[in-house]
Amino acid sequence: LRLTRRVLLLNIVPVVIAFIIAGVVYFISMAMIVTLSSSSREVESIEKTMQRHAVYAQLEIELSKLTVDELNASQIIDAITVHLKQVNSDFAIIDGQIIIASSIVLNRIDVNQILNSLTFQHEMIQISGINTEYKVIPLASKQAYLFIMHPFQKQLFSLWIPAIIAIVTFLIVFISISIYISRKITNEIIRPVERLKQAAAQISEGELDSVITEEGEGEVLELCKALEQMRIKLKESISLQQKYDSNRSFLVSSISHDLKTPVTSIKGYIEGILDGVANTPDKQKAYLLTAHRKTILIHTMIEDLLLYSKLDLRQLPFHMQPIDFAAYITDGVQEHYNLMQMKNLKLELQINELKERHVLLDGDRFMRVVQNIIDNAIHYNDKESPELTIMLRETYTSLVLEVKDNGIGINQEDTERIFDRFYRSDKARSVETGSGLGLAIVKQIVEEHKGEIWVKSSEGIGTSILISLPKVKGEIRK
Ligand SMILES: Nc1ncnc2c1ncn2[C@@H]1O[C@H](COP(=O)(O)OP(=O)(O)OP(=O)(O)O)[C@@H](O)[C@H]1O
Ligand SMILES: [Mg+2]
Repeated sequence: LRLTRRVLLLNIVPVVIAFIIAGVVYFISMAMIVTLSSSSREVESIEKTMQRHAVYAQLEIELSKLTVDELNASQIIDAITVHLKQVNSDFAIIDGQIIIASSIVLNRIDVNQILNSLTFQHEMIQISGINTEYKVIPLASKQAYLFIMHPFQKQLFSLWIPAIIAIVTFLIVFISISIYISRKITNEIIRPVERLKQAAAQISEGELDSVITEEGEGEVLELCKALEQMRIKLKESISLQQKYDSNRSFLVSSISHDLKTPVTSIKGYIEGILDGVANTPDKQKAYLLTAHRKTILIHTMIEDLLLYSKLDLRQLPFHMQPIDFAAYITDGVQEHYNLMQMKNLKLELQINELKERHVLLDGDRFMRVVQNIIDNAIHYNDKESPELTIMLRETYTSLVLEVKDNGIGINQEDTERIFDRFYRSDKARSVETGSGLGLAIVKQIVEEHKGEIWVKSSEGIGTSILISLPKVKGEIRK
């Protein structure tokens, strides 16, 4: 539920529930009171009832002979009053349609009830709202009666009681539900928001490592998620920034270090020409050619550095598409054919029968991988008859390319480090070509293709570089 709707609902719910419960309680207590009141008829014991009726009977015998005026004499009335009070009864004297005397105060409704009961013989009438049994004793005068009333036990409970019970119930239910809801709101909204506030404060102080837990509901939960996202993004961007910085300082230091040697020698050769040390045109040409070679080397180094740096910062776009890897490798090797012939290298291409031959590839960028590995295989070979075997096999999930040479090999310690940037074995270092970035670039490109690269080598015998790339399964869109 959205927060606003929720809060609205939470406001209405206690009122409605409290109202319903109070209503039910009201009706139940009302019903109980009514049954209690009506069953109070049985409160009077049988003895008392008999005694009462005995008194009535005696009064009937003695008074029915009297006229109204005789009855109305004060000492008789006093006697009647005393007798009736003993059995908890009252009376009224009726002459015609008028009540001329009574032992209790009667209102107009009571009078009507009494007069009515002379005509319609009800079992019971209501006097002052109380159920009352009555007895009519006709007097000697015409249309004159002694009207005896016996109220059943006074109403035990007032009708206000159910209302009061209902109101109290309403208040108790309303207050307890409100307390429950406010606890719930505190737990689900206010506490999480407070924690979020602390988390935001931590973030603003640069403390980005503590995870913001998802809690609460609705918008609060979304806010937690959003803030956690923000924290992750911020952390990423800061670590990327740090990587940029360290990368830059690394490049600066390695550029200055690695460029120093060729630049010094270029400087030396050019000074040789300027100073006249190279005093013949042939010598001058030789000096210039050497300087030129070194310049090309510097150029390559700078290119490699830039490429590596871009790959490392993942700034280089890759355009992947499904490519027939077997055909791609065959074509790629063909391009190196001349160089291989020049170096008198024996090439063998072994491509097994492949069920699936497609991988996702950026053809242009991956060519750099093939080129670097073949270059290394040709370069680091001191054998009389250098050999290069290129194999392509298939596993269940990948295609595996193996480039195997019979070159100088790599010792065990170095195999773990040849993919590091600027790493060159001592032997390679002495040759003083290349930047030492070749395999580092290769590794970056392979990993960008979600592939893996590793090396198997034994010193003096030869080296195998292996690359596995995930196969594209299913139909290939062209
Ligand atoms: N086929 C191989 N046989 C023997 N050693 C190799 C082979 N391939 C690479 N190496 C070793 O691994 C090191 C790193 O290779 P990498 O290609 O990264 O750099 P590089 O060849 O020295 O320079 P670059 O390729 O940038 O011109 C090499 O210096 C070499 O010592
Ligand atoms: Mg190389």
